[in-house]
Amino acid sequence: MRVIITKDYDEMSIKAARIIAEQVRRKPNSVLGLAAGSTPLGTYKELIRMHREEGLDFSSVITFNLDEYYGLAPDHPQSYHYFMFENFFKHVNINPKNIHTPDGLAKDVKAFCEKYEEEIKKVGGIDLQLLGIGRDGHIAFNEPGSSLAGRTMLVALAEETIKDNARFFKSEEEVPRLAITMGCGTIMEARRILLLANGENKADAIAATVEGPVTSQVTASILQMHPDIIVIVDEAAASKLKRKEYYKYVNRVLEEAGFLNFRCH
Ligand code: GLP
Repeated sequence: MRVIITKDYDEMSIKAARIIAEQVRRKPNSVLGLAAGSTPLGTYKELIRMHREEGLDFSSVITFNLDEYYGLAPDHPQSYHYFMFENFFKHVNINPKNIHTPDGLAKDVKAFCEKYEEEIKKVGGIDLQLLGIGRDGHIAFNEPGSSLAGRTMLVALAEETIKDNARFFKSEEEVPRLAITMGCGTIMEARRILLLANGENKADAIAATVEGPVTSQVTASILQMHPDIIVIVDEAAASKLKRKEYYKYVNRVLEEAGFLNFRCH
């Protein structure tokens, strides 16, 4: 794992956006796996700026979102589909035909999930997957106890997640109890993964993910098994990492030697 610790949220967002932009410039028809939530908002903002001011071109980019609440229509203001359009898609030149988000209204959920997996395969797999993390260490909606090899599926949300996500709804009761999510197995097949976290309330989850054992109780810990994973966290989210100074040292040494972009960590 390569762990990059930034001074604050803005620096985390800018670094993440640069990595995504570099991917898109290198391969204009990149397949990006995208995440909703507050964490990547700054990254999307910076990508929009790069599109407007530097001509970053999304016209051939293909996207797959990680998850969606089950029971919410795409135009529901709290759906992740709506979130993605409001905060990213409608501000860049992405072709709507290239956007994929799980269907929160799918009637035949099993068939939908299989189709989603098929569609990812058909375009050659995900080149770069962006991830946030839940306070309980979940990625996408893979709650503690989910299979670390799981594929896209319907899941029940954990109580903690319902409470955390209630801030976007009028009340806790309104938060859907079910969601469709890519599984950990689906996520792990991405060629490169970028995990972001900021704020003190993510510090335990980050410590468990980076330095704890690989366990389905912290589904993000499976990322330790990925050959190209970059974790970008601000100082607050990094505050419980035991080897914090070492991670900083690694990046400093690699940078000084001009090797920072080599995938050796
Ligand atoms: C949700 C999403 C995750 C997200 C996490 C953190 O439950 N399903 O994909 O990473 O919460 O969200 P936030 O970035 O708002 O803290």
